[in-house]
Amino acid sequence: MLYRNARIENAEATSDIRVTDGLFAQIAPHLEAAPGEEVIDLNGKLVLPPFIESHVHLDTCLTAGDPVWNMSGTLFEGIECWSKRKDKLSRQDIRERVQQCVRLYAANGVQFIRTHVDVTDPKLTAMQALIELREELRDVMEIQIVAFPQEGILSYPNGKQLMIDAVKMGADCVGAIPHFEFTREYSVESLNFALQLAADNGKLVDVHCDEIDDEASRGLETVAARALELELFDKVTASHTTAMHSYNNAYVLRLMRLLKMSKINFVANPLVNTHLQGRVDTYPKRRGITRVKELTAEGINVSFGHDDIFDPWYPMGNGSLRDVVFMGLHVCQMMGYEDIMNSYRFITTNAAKTLHLGDRYGIAEGRAANFIVLDAPHYYDALNRNAPVLRSVRMGKTIAETRPAATEIEF
Ligand code: FE2
Repeated sequence: MLYRNARIENAEATSDIRVTDGLFAQIAPHLEAAPGEEVIDLNGKLVLPPFIESHVHLDTCLTAGDPVWNMSGTLFEGIECWSKRKDKLSRQDIRERVQQCVRLYAANGVQFIRTHVDVTDPKLTAMQALIELREELRDVMEIQIVAFPQEGILSYPNGKQLMIDAVKMGADCVGAIPHFEFTREYSVESLNFALQLAADNGKLVDVHCDEIDDEASRGLETVAARALELELFDKVTASHTTAMHSYNNAYVLRLMRLLKMSKINFVANPLVNTHLQGRVDTYPKRRGITRVKELTAEGINVSFGHDDIFDPWYPMGNGSLRDVVFMGLHVCQMMGYEDIMNSYRFITTNAAKTLHLGDRYGIAEGRAANFIVLDAPHYYDALNRNAPVLRSVRMGKTIAETRPAATEIEF
């Protein structure tokens, strides 16, 4: 199969791409079609490596309004709504919603998902369902599973054992939620436990870290210190870190040295945190998003995630990561020309680092032929016009196609 005239990652010039046996066989300015070879002309459209969802909760997705809507929109009413919905939770219910959500993502060019799965459940129902689906959906979506202790590790009955069990069942990453633990001591101990569990079992780490507007919430320094000391480095990710928005600058200056030494990744969730943070403020209201601009300027890896898709905590979401990037650039004030042009990296190459995909990801000869085609010549235009993903190709096979809507102007 020969794809002609692809504009790979905003390049000025176009390239031809030959795909053979599910791999990128050749990439060059011009390739001759072999006799009988199928040719698709991409007409200078933007070609990117697939989008990556680096932070979502698939086990809660598509439950907004069932059985009740979150009327205030707050995190706490979200927890109340979820506790009512939790009664109906079954393996089949989770399977159906996750399959539906994966199809939404696929339609929008996503081929990799890191999902957090609540393990503060003595039956580990959601974990079981997600582990099955990870295998069943492997051909169309690569799913990474984080054992996520929604109600804490030390602050939930048998919390440590549930984490150990989830890792034994096959979780890819160990999670934690230090800002939700009962005490600061529990917070530190939960992180020591989680990172040691990951080190002992060769797992990645992704912590829900300081997702609160409390400037005294300082789980991040413990995450970074343990990542450094246990030599886990970039296997570790700190998600949310919204408290960093409220830290004083003198503390951030000191912290930044440790963050760089630790080599950890960050995930910001601009839609959900703009919606949920600053809720106890009157005016001025904090934006409550981590310091993406400053972390990026220091060479620290940051990716963007959706976090919640149409659930009690966030009432929107259609599987498109475009809106995540769009909101992220606004709220982080990263709207310079280069910032906008390169912002696809938050949901592609940067996210690939977070997920530790290595050379399993990227458009290069010899790698898996996974790519997407957008209806735009470059990402600036794609983002601005909300251009659809025309085609998503995985291992050389088209797994989703979209025909753009046509508008007739009548004047
Ligand atoms: Fe989250």
